[in-house]
Amino acid sequence: MKKELNFIADSFKITTCLGASKLFNELDNWELLNLQVPTILEIPERLYDDYGITSKYLDAVMKNYTIQSVSKDKIEADWGIKHTPQLFVAATKHYSWPKAAAIAGIGSDNAVDVPVDIHARVDIPALRKLLDARLKAKKAVYAVVAVMGTTEEGAVDPLGEIIKLRKEYQKLGMSFIVHADAAWGGYFASMIPVKLRGNLPVGRRLPSYVPRVGLRPETQLQLRHLHEADSITVDPHKAGYIPYPAGGLCYRDGRMRYLLTWTAPYINQGVGESIGVYGVEGSKPGASAAAVWLAHEVIGLDEDGHGALLGEASFTCRRFASHWAAMSTDDTDFRVVPFNLLPSEMKEDATKESIDKEKQFIRDHILGVSNIDLVKDTDAMKLLNELGSDLNINAFACNFRYPDGRVNTDIGEANYLNQRIFERLSVTSSGEDPLSVPFYLTSTVFAQKDYDVCATRFKQRLQLEGDQDLFVLRNVVMSPFATEGNFVAKLAKTFQQVLEEEVKVRGIRLLCAAYADALSCAGCRRTQYTQARPALVRDAGHGQAPSRPHACIPHGIGALPVHLHCRPVGRHDEALPGRQGGVPRVNSHPQDHRACFAG
Ligand SMILES: Cc1ncc(COP(=O)(O)O)c(C=O)c1O
Repeated sequence: MKKELNFIADSFKITTCLGASKLFNELDNWELLNLQVPTILEIPERLYDDYGITSKYLDAVMKNYTIQSVSKDKIEADWGIKHTPQLFVAATKHYSWPKAAAIAGIGSDNAVDVPVDIHARVDIPALRKLLDARLKAKKAVYAVVAVMGTTEEGAVDPLGEIIKLRKEYQKLGMSFIVHADAAWGGYFASMIPVKLRGNLPVGRRLPSYVPRVGLRPETQLQLRHLHEADSITVDPHKAGYIPYPAGGLCYRDGRMRYLLTWTAPYINQGVGESIGVYGVEGSKPGASAAAVWLAHEVIGLDEDGHGALLGEASFTCRRFASHWAAMSTDDTDFRVVPFNLLPSEMKEDATKESIDKEKQFIRDHILGVSNIDLVKDTDAMKLLNELGSDLNINAFACNFRYPDGRVNTDIGEANYLNQRIFERLSVTSSGEDPLSVPFYLTSTVFAQKDYDVCATRFKQRLQLEGDQDLFVLRNVVMSPFATEGNFVAKLAKTFQQVLEEEVKVRGIRLLCAAYADALSCAGCRRTQYTQARPALVRDAGHGQAPSRPHACIPHGIGALPVHLHCRPVGRHDEALPGRQGGVPRVNSHPQDHRACFAG
């Protein structure tokens, strides 16, 4: 470049991140890697305006220097860049982020996890620490990604804070792109009243016809910052209700896309553009683009169009959340714990009594109440709006009590219970009949290494102990229709039935463990149960041979229906294929139940 563009070396100036005007030729690597986005994007136009350098000429010159043509490794070697710049993204990120880092050639290790807080949102002090370390070591950061609606729990990262942080670090000479991964959450911006939107797109307005709720103020505030992000992912095939594949990447400054094209039309000089030059795919389905356009035109991207649809889905989601919050009581053998804290749990002076009182309020004023009555009850609506996920993904998990009343503290046991529920409320193989599933749930794993304090707190609320990863259920709500006739309550009842049956199976399984242990105490062949059931081993008096060989055999166990029989447990640290470690394998084949009685 020095050679080809030498004639501008003594005059072409640029504004550094710190605001100084310097000869471009004299910038050091740190200054170059931290130029602000608009400064970079205006270079081609400035070259054209000030020196008559055409996009065609610039394209020919840049071919010898861009990452696309010579590779990142060569650029780093030629320029003496010792540390590959990194990408920061919440530990809750979608798996496509490390994949993107791999494809981009920076390696997935350079997609650095930013720790999250107990609400699964980026922890700003932790992000600050990471940025400080990079600033001190002069290691550049490509981008900080805010996830606007995490895949697993619909949590919205504090985009506004991230934008503020960037301004703060720019004053210290460090800049980075801010990308909003709003693949899930982007369409929820259509719920923001038009007058509060900044320059987010607006469509046409239609009268609404079913109850709906708005975004929570904090969520709305963060989504209102979307227009300040340099780029945004948004998936019409998610909350846009468009069939696959319809993914979108939006740039705040459209010139940004020129940096990613194979041939770079730096300045549009009236030549038609081919869509194939943008992005990884060449040929792209035009039908998806047409579907997105048509849906936006017909439904409208405003609070009376798409926003109304999501408002109704959000209302439904919160009604579901109220069931997860209030389903269990001190008297039930099961516990259902929503990942999202109840308002009473967030208070510093929270007590069991204050939390129980709020749950009772939910039972009395929300659960069985019709939509029409509910919307008239201001206090109930206020609470409803504070329940559940930021953006319509209710994560929750269940636990159970032992027959003697103690709440289970073993994560492996809770994982097994939740996984059994998931198996019954999902279709995971092609042979299953989707119509036989009364209610669909999805699932995820909160890996301790990724979720850290967030997982720890959730486990504490479930009364679980230890560092094992946690299997979590997810209730993604997209339909606005489930609250009509309080159908949500029927679905919750169906869930509760499945849960109660599975808890019963747990109890019986534990009895089987005691039974098997008794056999082993008595010198019978040792079964797999004993290694996994220390609590019951103690209960069964393990270590002291029972006076009668089968003293611990529970009454009536052989009379149980087969579907309630227990199965031999696998090792609790056995990892499921394709999942993160620590989640037990499910195997409920009747043969296994019979094995229980084979001793
Ligand atoms: C937050 C987030 N980002 C990115 C993606 C990737 O989207 P896609 O699978 O459409 O490429 C997803 C998908 O679930 C997501 O939830």
